[in-house]
Amino acid sequence: MSSSSPARPAPPVKRETFSSRRLFILSAIGSAVGLGNIWRFPYIAYDNGGGAFLIPYLVALLTAGIPLLFLDYAVGHKFRGSAPLAYRRLHRAAEPLGWWQVLVCFVIAAYYAVIIAWALMYTIFSFTEAWGDDAEGFFFGNFLGVAEAPGLGFDFIPSVFFPLLLIWAAVILIMVAGIRKGISRANAVLLPLLVAMFVLLVIQALFLPGAAQGLNAFFTPDWSALADPSVWAAAYGHIFFSLSVGYGIMVTYSSYLKRRTDLTGSGMVVAFSNSGFEILAGIGVFAALGFMAQAAGTGVNDVVTQGIGLAFVAFPTIVSQAPFGAVMGVLFFGSLVFAGITSLISVLEVIVAAVQDKLGWGRIKASLVVSILVAAVSLAFFPTATGLYLLDTSDAFVNSFGITLGALVTVVVLAWFLRKLPLLSAHLNRISTVKMRGTWMVLVAAVVPLALIYMVANEFISKISTTYEGYPDWFVGVFGWGMSAALVVLALVLTFIPWSRSSKAHDDPEYDAVVEEDAKETAL
Ligand code: ALA
Repeated sequence: MSSSSPARPAPPVKRETFSSRRLFILSAIGSAVGLGNIWRFPYIAYDNGGGAFLIPYLVALLTAGIPLLFLDYAVGHKFRGSAPLAYRRLHRAAEPLGWWQVLVCFVIAAYYAVIIAWALMYTIFSFTEAWGDDAEGFFFGNFLGVAEAPGLGFDFIPSVFFPLLLIWAAVILIMVAGIRKGISRANAVLLPLLVAMFVLLVIQALFLPGAAQGLNAFFTPDWSALADPSVWAAAYGHIFFSLSVGYGIMVTYSSYLKRRTDLTGSGMVVAFSNSGFEILAGIGVFAALGFMAQAAGTGVNDVVTQGIGLAFVAFPTIVSQAPFGAVMGVLFFGSLVFAGITSLISVLEVIVAAVQDKLGWGRIKASLVVSILVAAVSLAFFPTATGLYLLDTSDAFVNSFGITLGALVTVVVLAWFLRKLPLLSAHLNRISTVKMRGTWMVLVAAVVPLALIYMVANEFISKISTTYEGYPDWFVGVFGWGMSAALVVLALVLTFIPWSRSSKAHDDPEYDAVVEEDAKETAL
């Protein structure tokens, strides 16, 4: 009898959840606190009015960062899916928005891991001061073997390849273990370790001679900066990347929350912890730069820098000159590694969750296939003589035309075309402590898009008027403009791939139960 009955589809795999709100908050903070907080914020603040920058920064946080964080939470939690599935459930036409975010995460993950690998090597180099007395020459020459100019010379650089392989191996293990055993545990261990190490680093930096001079430079307010629109744009631009909003991460993480979870209360904790860490980083970095300036007999403005220059040129110099420099090096580069890993896993989770949902694959298969694919791209392109140029170009373009433009389109579609903000605000209010009122909708529908339009327009004008960094046109055309356009085209292509029959888009009793419960409560 059984042989003649039609085969029953396998019961859908239950969606994993964070086992507690605390672990969700830890993971969301782990995602937000990343390289951006340590090497980007201090310089942005210094360069845009010093102490006075805290005003546009706080305004940007309150009027755009936190409202958008709540929007991501509402979409992910209400529609219980990866970005493409959640947006599809919100409205069928919105699915490509989710794929766009997934593809942005693909690009970010491929190069973000590379910086973590460099930091890992520099943690070890701190013991021997491998850079000698020429940190700059060592980094770009001996270590990265950077080619004279961007080109297609993919010379293989083993000193970057092997640590990168190690980082990918560690990250793949975390991803395969899933939300509870992998991502939650990694954050529960790495985040407290990161905070402890960073606090020690700041204390050590504050005791260095010249620290006060650095802090003075960092905090002295230049009130006239407040009249400059570019300062405000810098504040808004920084907050999106820093809080990990607008590119699928918070949609994905909040889809793993239990039904009754205080979303807005959790969001406040995440946002203010992220900002607290940023300000701490500013204090630590500028105290160290003050020391460096004093040792060189120059002003802080002569040594201040950001990004790669700060981490891999200025800091090694400080490590060589400071008392107990090796300790400082280990604390600084170790912090970059831990902050980077907790962010990288959140970026990868956006892709893994999307593949699981669309193809109906199990956790292990999806995380292995996705992570190995991203790792292969990362390992093939970046540990090469052209790797630094590629990293720089893809980072600049994916930020401008992936995250920023993507967030703008998403907000406009949700608020103005689909008019879903009342539905999402009702969801937030039903389960959260901090209630959303009309203000939230005004912020999301008007303030956020206006800020984003200004930023996208600025970015577009600056990137079109001069070739990015003076790199060859074909290089920027392929890896900058071409890559950005490919994200949009591929997002549409992925949307048209049919959802697997076993995917949650067709058959998800858990989600059906949620819809029923929501409908009952709304009717009450
Ligand atoms: N939000 C993460 C960072 O700041 C990605 O680096």
